Amino acid sequence: MAIVFNEITQKIKLSTKNTSYIMEIVKDEFLAHVYWGKKIDDYYGSNKIMYRDRGFSPNIFEEDRTFSLDTLPQEYPQYGNGDYRPCAFQVSNDENSTYNDLRYVRHEILSEKPKILGLPSSYGENIQTLKITMLDKIIGLEVNLYYSVFEDCDVITRRATFKALKNELTLNKMLSASIDFRRDDFDLISLYGAHNNDRNIDRRELTSATYVVESTRGASSMHQSPFLALISKDGNENYGDVYAMQFVYSGSFHSSVHVDQYRNIRMQMGLQPFDSNWILNAGEIFETPEVVLTYSDTGLEKMSSQLHQFVRQHILRGEWKDKPRPTLINNWEATYFDFTEEKLLDLAQEAKDVGIELFVLDDGWFKNRNSDGTSLGDWIVDTKKLPHGVEWLADKINEMGLKFGIWFEPEMISEDSDLYRAHPEYAMQVKNREHIYGRGQFVLDLANNEVCDYVINSISEVLDTGKIDYVKWDMNRHITNIGSLHLNIKNQRETMHRYMLGLYKITDTLVTKYPKILFESCSSGGGRFDLGLLCYMPQTWASDNTDAVCRSKIQYATSYMYPSLVTGSHVSVCPNHQVGRVTPLNTRFNIAMCGNLGYELDLTLLNEGEKAEIKSQVEFYKEVRDLIQFGDYFRLINPFERNEYAVNFVSENQEEVLAIYMKVLSEPAAPFHILKLRGLDENSLYKDYETGEIYSGQELMYAGISIANVKQDFYSRYWYFKKHLPKR
Ligand code: GLA
Repeated sequence: MAIVFNEITQKIKLSTKNTSYIMEIVKDEFLAHVYWGKKIDDYYGSNKIMYRDRGFSPNIFEEDRTFSLDTLPQEYPQYGNGDYRPCAFQVSNDENSTYNDLRYVRHEILSEKPKILGLPSSYGENIQTLKITMLDKIIGLEVNLYYSVFEDCDVITRRATFKALKNELTLNKMLSASIDFRRDDFDLISLYGAHNNDRNIDRRELTSATYVVESTRGASSMHQSPFLALISKDGNENYGDVYAMQFVYSGSFHSSVHVDQYRNIRMQMGLQPFDSNWILNAGEIFETPEVVLTYSDTGLEKMSSQLHQFVRQHILRGEWKDKPRPTLINNWEATYFDFTEEKLLDLAQEAKDVGIELFVLDDGWFKNRNSDGTSLGDWIVDTKKLPHGVEWLADKINEMGLKFGIWFEPEMISEDSDLYRAHPEYAMQVKNREHIYGRGQFVLDLANNEVCDYVINSISEVLDTGKIDYVKWDMNRHITNIGSLHLNIKNQRETMHRYMLGLYKITDTLVTKYPKILFESCSSGGGRFDLGLLCYMPQTWASDNTDAVCRSKIQYATSYMYPSLVTGSHVSVCPNHQVGRVTPLNTRFNIAMCGNLGYELDLTLLNEGEKAEIKSQVEFYKEVRDLIQFGDYFRLINPFERNEYAVNFVSENQEEVLAIYMKVLSEPAAPFHILKLRGLDENSLYKDYETGEIYSGQELMYAGISIANVKQDFYSRYWYFKKHLPKR
């Protein structure tokens, strides 16, 4: 049983394969957090919650000064009745009071996970769910907390629903999860970045303060990722407690870690409360998105392995869930906006010749789109560039033996577009305010159903040709002018979340309507790399930065949360277009092959030697594709800490192993280091694919492989091993 209630102790225990989560109903009406961590089969209450009269911590009961919500570890804390730490929610009533007093009323154990209306969410069979109902009788608020237990990958998901029982209520803050830890010996890991610099690792000590990781941009963003991990101070890849939270949402979010006066930690995550609220009429329900929780008792590697498994089994869905991803050529860095039919066909032919499987026509194919300043919204072919149209081009490319894919940026509208000329009201805007430009464009008002229908219909018209096998779904600016002409004045602060609901409606409709198409989401790279969009689009372009050195870091940090299967990575030309660096072609490949391999350069300009090299790269990638895309992933050397990078992949049956190594800058007097692999079968022998040499799994993991000391910047190599005969 994943969920058990002990009536005598009033404790509810959730169990996954290796973890337990325990809460307690205190004094019949307060929901306290008791434990989350390594699995406890028999729990009798050794870590009792301690009570003491503490100064300035208010008391609910006059006769009991030891009981204060300010010191009680809680499941879903509120503001107004004594807890001064960050609250999980705040609701105001029609008298503009923000005093909230939710009390536990009852709970149910459901045998499955209820669906969340209009929002992406995880799924699975026989996922037991705990539903706890809490009431604030005075303001007429019912909150239901949901805990779904994914036993197989040691994940528990949490969310909340709000219902106005009698009068209108305003939701000012509605986080999805909050957890109190009775300890503070953690470091905090979060991921930050910028355009072309997606996802860097930040690890910091915690002192008495509140640490906030959030986005107010209308997108989950590459600036701060919707991910937090608390790790034991001495924890690392393979050691220590790790508690991670991740949000299943693609818009603005808020997460925080607060260290209180008694050195307890509160960790929270949910919708961004700043500049947003939600008006709930009597009888209406608001559902928050889901937060994913996972605990590892042996460091970050296990945390990632659990999260990767969760993404593969319980987030990805549809036709492409378990399908190997095709190798692709994308014309963006090869041509930008400047191409002709002939040029594209030449590029496709070269791609075919080196064994690539999918041709992606990027930005610039639609009406007058010769720069990034025009035409978004007009999803009609530009006959000046493509006189025979998209269908003809797709046919030609199919005839060569390649699949055909196309780029859209469906959530946007250019001022210089037929759509804007006909429907200026489709742009998100605030009355009497000038538009703010981002990449020269405006954002469509997806809070308006009519606009969503326009997007669905105009994109469908292209997809209905039946010639499209792949769609790159881009989003290249963040939201300003946050307002909708479609909404009433009093609902204006709902615009950001309504935008996301509109987006999810559109993506849900399109991926359902075109189940065979492989959708890749993109936001100038990994600006919306999140579990929300992964529920619809099973891969994401990790960064616009294709430089191998930068990518080694970006992909390393991305792997904290996401498996290679969902991570798009391309080989591009040198000098690199983002940072100007020149790296060897084999290094660009070695790094790009750690994800879904693509090429994004003008193959027609390469010499025969380079083409031959790419041909053998593609051939090799196809050989190891299943291992990379579906195998287990191990981080070996952290490029944020060292002048080197290394990872290895191991197939599920441990038959195959691929290790990839890069040394960034050559050094004088460099040591001869060794690389210890992980995840192999200890009792087997492995054969080096290149040299034919045989090694034991034990020696590859514990003695390691010697790395050559090469006098060259950006040196890299890989080792590919296959299981040999059983040892004895
Ligand atoms: C974004 C994407 C790029 C490319 C351009 C096209 O920046 O991340 O890959 O598609 O848009 O404008």
